[in-house]
This record gives sequence, structure tokens and C-alpha cells, in this order.
Amino acid sequence: MLWIKSFHIIFVTAWFAGLFYLPRIFVNLAMVPAPGPERDRLLLMGGKLYRFMTLLGVVAIVFGLWLWLLYRIGAGAGWMHAKLTLVLLLIAYHGWCGKLLADFQHGRNRHSHVWYRVFNEVPVLLLTAIVLLVVLKPF
Ligand code: HEM
Repeated sequence: MLWIKSFHIIFVTAWFAGLFYLPRIFVNLAMVPAPGPERDRLLLMGGKLYRFMTLLGVVAIVFGLWLWLLYRIGAGAGWMHAKLTLVLLLIAYHGWCGKLLADFQHGRNRHSHVWYRVFNEVPVLLLTAIVLLVVLKPF
């Protein structure tokens, strides 16, 4: 079980590296005024990162489901239900990143770099809340 938990944490950490970095690429894309090599390079980086972080997220979730459903850790517990709700929000955020990336790829970005800086803080809040829930198990 400790091996599964270790790999869960490793893949969650790697997934979050992407969730923190991709919106930083959006900040830079939103500051590039016109099509050109800089924009193309940022779009290439964003596309590759999104594909890779999706894979990392899926593996992290599979290990989490393994701990929950097979080892029954947190089964029926309030903190687990709260955590799962926040994980759903995190998955929605991940999907939203994909939508925003597609908007950039099709020249349809509608947000400023300041908006992306604020957007970038959402995973920080979710990470904080989820870690506090699994470690403190307050209810
Ligand atoms: C469907 C998704 C997920 C499920 C079912 C799940 C389930 C679990 C379970 C059952 C544990 C063991 C808890 C314990 O030993 O007390 C665990 C540990 C942990 N999870 Fe998840 N998890 C998921 C996603 C996430 C995400 C997205 C994060 C990060 C934001 C995360 C962060 C952690 C951490 C840090 C631990 C270690 C807690 C400790 O050992 O004290 N998990 N997870």
C-alpha cells in the first residue's frame, strides 16, 4: 500500500508541475501581440505539456482510486468526499486549460495576461485544500 501511496504522490506532484506551468505559458502567449516564431514556440510547448500532463493526471488518479477502492482508505469518510469534490474541480480546471490552449491555437484568445495570472492561482488553492484534507482529515 505504501508503494501505491508513494506513486500516487509522485504522479500528483508531476501533474501539478504542468498545472502550474501551462498557465504561465498562457501569460506569455497573451503578451505576444502577433503571430510569429515566438508564438509558435509557445504553442508547441503548451501542446506538448498539455498532452504529457494529461497522462500524468490520469496515472495519479488511477493510483488514488486504487488506494480508495481497493485498500478502502477513506471509504465513507467526510474528508474523502470533500477531497473527491475538489479533485473533480481540479479535473474541470485541467479541461479548461485544454480549452484555453485550443483558443490560442485558433487565434481566439479573449483574456489578458493579468487574467491568466489570476487563473494561475486556482491550482495553488486546490492543492492547499486537498493536502490539508488528506493529512489533517478534519471530519
Ligand atoms: C480521484 C482522485 C484521487 C483519489 C481517489 C485519491 C485517494 C487517496 C487516498 C485513498 C489516499 C490515502 C490517504 C491516507 O493514507 O490517509 C491519498 C493520499 C494522498 N493524496 Fe490522493 N487521491 C486522489 C487525487 C489526489 C490529488 C489530485 C491530490 C493532490 C492535489 C492528492 C493528494 C494526496 C496526498 C498528498 C496524499 C498523501 C496523504 C498522506 O499520506 O497523509 N490526491 N489519496
